[in-house]
Amino acid sequence: MHILAIETTCDETAAAVIAEDRSVLSSAIASQEEVHVRFQGVVPELAARSHLEKITPIIGQAIEEAGIDPVADLEAIAVATEPGLPGSLMVGLAAAKALCVAWRKPLIAINHIQAHVYACQLGRAKSIFPCAGFVVSGGHTNLYHCKSANNWSYLGGTIDDAVGEAFDKVGVMLGLPYPGGPELSRLAEAGDPKAYDLPRPLLSDKSTLNMSFSGLKTAVRYKLVGTGKQDFSQLELDDATRANVAASFQQAAVDVVVGKAMMALEQTGLKRLCVGGGVAANSMLRFRLQEMAAKQAAELIVAPLELCTDNAAMGAIAWEKVESGDYADMDIDIQPGLLRGE
Ligand code: KG4
Ligand code: ZN
Repeated sequence: MHILAIETTCDETAAAVIAEDRSVLSSAIASQEEVHVRFQGVVPELAARSHLEKITPIIGQAIEEAGIDPVADLEAIAVATEPGLPGSLMVGLAAAKALCVAWRKPLIAINHIQAHVYACQLGRAKSIFPCAGFVVSGGHTNLYHCKSANNWSYLGGTIDDAVGEAFDKVGVMLGLPYPGGPELSRLAEAGDPKAYDLPRPLLSDKSTLNMSFSGLKTAVRYKLVGTGKQDFSQLELDDATRANVAASFQQAAVDVVVGKAMMALEQTGLKRLCVGGGVAANSMLRFRLQEMAAKQAAELIVAPLELCTDNAAMGAIAWEKVESGDYADMDIDIQPGLLRGE
């Protein structure tokens, strides 16, 4: 049997079909980059309306590519109901409910953050649990103690911007197209990470696993434009300066993420770290995490590159819920905010 998983938490409309052994039969994704690029960030209402256009064709594509008969072959329909943009979440949940009724299937509600960590499970025979789970994305930067697939406790996270958001905002300052993360890391390759002295907020505070990236982003801004002028398009930075800013920012952001990951391993005594989310695609971060894990004698599992940014294949975590009988009621609502106590 198979699960159809649906993902519409932010600005990617995605659907995937996953077998019980967690193999991914299909994973269809429609990006909304062209909708949001001119606003240099996600516009929530436009995101919801774009999901509305794309959701049915994307589900159709996932079913067709998997070559399954949904009525005969589906065990359940899973959808990410939390956390995310309210309008975006509603489109996915409404679609999932309608299909459950039409095809007489049970509904499974997925937590998008947990799914990002579960991306590390795909392609592996051995369970990734117990582990420290770290989601580093455009919307979230959170650490969890994951005792099992269904037992998570929140360890700490950003108290302001997500790390990916900081990459994107510094990308805007450097005139990079949205989302700036991947372009910024390419630009950083030619730069000197020591060129600018930038803060590493909360990094030296061992009493907390919380992080902060807003001050780092603002520090870059002050270095570039001072406290006044805001129009980054007027900045005429030469290539060497842009590369140095990118490299110095990336180094500071990676230092904070790696430092807090190390503290999480030390404080929990866990010997496995699983990292997912869009920023986990950053090659400097992957390298530095590997170095740190080796020193801690811990196993590092970073989500496969194609499963770092938003996708529905990581909805494979729904199989864990089938196995524990954790089905959702049909009157379930979305849960846009992050539940820190979970
Ligand atoms: O996981 P994701 O697709 O969306 C959320 O759930 O937020 O993450 C998108 C974020 C963006 O901020 C993007 O700039 C960042 O991931 N990102 C990267 C890289 N690739 C994607 N940031 C740094 N380096 C990268 N290579
Ligand atoms: Zn995400």
